[in-house]
Amino acid sequence: MDTIRIGIITSSDRASKGEYEDRSGPAIKKYWSERLQNKIEWVEQVIPDEQEMLEKTIISMCDESGCSLICTTGGTGPAKRDVTPEATESVCEKMLPGFGESMRKVSLQYVPTAILSRQTAGIRGNSLIINLPGKPKAIAECLDGVLGAIPYCIDLIEGPRMEFEPEYGKAFRPGEK
Ligand code: MTE
Repeated sequence: MDTIRIGIITSSDRASKGEYEDRSGPAIKKYWSERLQNKIEWVEQVIPDEQEMLEKTIISMCDESGCSLICTTGGTGPAKRDVTPEATESVCEKMLPGFGESMRKVSLQYVPTAILSRQTAGIRGNSLIINLPGKPKAIAECLDGVLGAIPYCIDLIEGPRMEFEPEYGKAFRPGEK
């Protein structure tokens, strides 16, 4: 079974200053630990909502650390300091707008403010980058909406083969039974 390296970026002025504990980064870790059979190597960063710092962190997780999947949390809303989608777009070679569309659609079942998230996803090299909102409870709500497409996407960008724990079903791959 392949090992997968997953990057987690928490974009939060307050969490980066230690004013409150980052609970979303750990929620992302919990989500993937529960679902993946693969051994996971984690690369984690808590940084302020600064576009340049976000871009540098994403680039380093893709190009240097070799993360196949990077989940960001926070900074997707309409406030002045929310710049995660801009940073993501500026470092990605290809955007995958379907991720944002699906996550917003699923999230509307939970909160009417789901449309305030400008979350998106994209590809840089061999890495898939997915934006998640900053609220810890939003992590599983959003990832559940796109989980089925992630293993095949990672296959297509020549990453490790992801396998789910049996209780989460077989990872969907077109043409595979
Ligand atoms: N999506 C889900 N699934 N659950 C949530 O609680 N909160 C919304 C939205 N998407 C939310 C959600 C709210 S209130 C905001 S402001 C936006 O995400 C942006 O959040 P962010 O700026 O922390 O990224």
